[in-house]
Amino acid sequence: MRVSCRSQPRETRMTETAWRKLSKLGNKFDDLQIADLLANESRLANYSLSTCGLYVDFSKHLVDDEVMAALLELAGASRVLEKGRDTYAGEQVNPTEGRAALHMALRQPHAIPAMREDLMAARASIKALADAIRSGERRGPNGDAITDIINIGIGGSDLGPKMVCTALHEFADGPHCHFISNVDGAELQVLQRKLNPATTAILISSKTFTTTETLRNADSALTWQATSLGLQHAARQAIGITASPANALAFGIPEQSLITFPEAIGGRYSLWSAIGLPIAIALGFDRFMELLDGAAAMDQHFLKAKPDRNLPLILGLLGIWYNNVAQVHSHAVVPYCERLGLMVSYLQQLDMESNGKLTGLDGKIVKHATGPVIWGQTGTNGQHAFFQRLHQGTRFVPVDFIATVKDNLSMDSHHRMLLANMIAQSSALMVGSQTDDLHRFHPGNRPSTTILLEELKPSTLGALIALYEHKVFVQAAVWNINPFDQWGVELGKVLASSVLDGSTDHDPSTLSLMKKTGLLD
Ligand code: F6P
Repeated sequence: MRVSCRSQPRETRMTETAWRKLSKLGNKFDDLQIADLLANESRLANYSLSTCGLYVDFSKHLVDDEVMAALLELAGASRVLEKGRDTYAGEQVNPTEGRAALHMALRQPHAIPAMREDLMAARASIKALADAIRSGERRGPNGDAITDIINIGIGGSDLGPKMVCTALHEFADGPHCHFISNVDGAELQVLQRKLNPATTAILISSKTFTTTETLRNADSALTWQATSLGLQHAARQAIGITASPANALAFGIPEQSLITFPEAIGGRYSLWSAIGLPIAIALGFDRFMELLDGAAAMDQHFLKAKPDRNLPLILGLLGIWYNNVAQVHSHAVVPYCERLGLMVSYLQQLDMESNGKLTGLDGKIVKHATGPVIWGQTGTNGQHAFFQRLHQGTRFVPVDFIATVKDNLSMDSHHRMLLANMIAQSSALMVGSQTDDLHRFHPGNRPSTTILLEELKPSTLGALIALYEHKVFVQAAVWNINPFDQWGVELGKVLASSVLDGSTDHDPSTLSLMKKTGLLD
């Protein structure tokens, strides 16, 4: 079935009118010159915003006030902010799984009075376990203090805590946290050679406790610990982090070593829950709370700011303009900060697993484009990898530049050069270069957003992550899709089991590959 990307979602008369109005403005892509728009002295003030420790410049975009008004009308007709408030209140916004989406409640337990007690108790459990490991109260199997943690998980049970621990490593003062995710055994083998099993705690992080890669890695890590220390049941020493306690208990994790979180927390929205335990162990519970408080500040901005000064709403709508009117289905994220390198992978799951959907909340195949391809790499490295494409490719790609104004770890001359490069790239994408030699011609007029964190610390990182969570939500609300389920990952899992079992019920190519790799005799 060919999914047309040409027509707009049919939702209500208001949205139809709003989509029609927006689509009629499509000729602006040929008419607008970003540099000319910036010549208007009010442009920068009206197309930039400071909040929650972030300064965001969205003035270099192919939109004028007329387009922004049409985008905001579409957001209103799509009830985006009302749906955001419904999510905050714990409404069932994930109908295909019959769940709410409680990631905001994790950072603001007062949001849903009926859940406050449970959410505060969950926080207390995270604090108690992190403090016990950091203080030496909780020791290894032979009574040694714990010096290292291996977090075994994948997707949302890995990317969030790994990205945060990497980004905030300057604040780390606890046991060293290592992350094993891929079932590629080389990762674990290399790590096991470096660590002392007697002083290593194994955290098995899995919302379902059924993910095959995680269970395989957990088995191997526990065998390494049991063999090295002569343990009967290494699982008894492990810590389980899950929304499926029965499965974790069946795996052998003792009840007193289980820390749980509600099923209404989506995997890619779970770093604020017990899945964030590695963060609290590495950085301390107080820093973990600063991270949550930063996200809570962005939540309140999203829920209360006027639409035309609402950052997640504006960034989400800019993406709609490119994705659904310009039909540019690609979006680059380029952090000019090596510590934010994993932010790209994190946003790939957050955005593409939330909005990579072709069925609407009405149960019908959508008739419009939904989630774009999210990709990128840190700068300045990207300048030596794909910026050629960004500058001289036949189609523009909107870019998010991210940097910190202050960097306490870098050297002043390096940080200034890093920032100068980012600012220059954003400018070059806009101004281009006119020359008779068309091989050297830069078309310019290419859009970008620049996000500056005052500095990279728990609160600003929390706000940045929440900004993107809400941007993704805005787009899902306009496209009328469910950002909180992920049925698209099920088929691959079923076929992987079938291939691993040596089933011959496959196409010739698959069977040939199975034979060449020894998966089939
Ligand atoms: O990618 C599919 C997915 O279900 C993600 O949504 C999730 O974060 C990941 O796999 C791991 O799932 P679990 O935490 O249940 O092991």
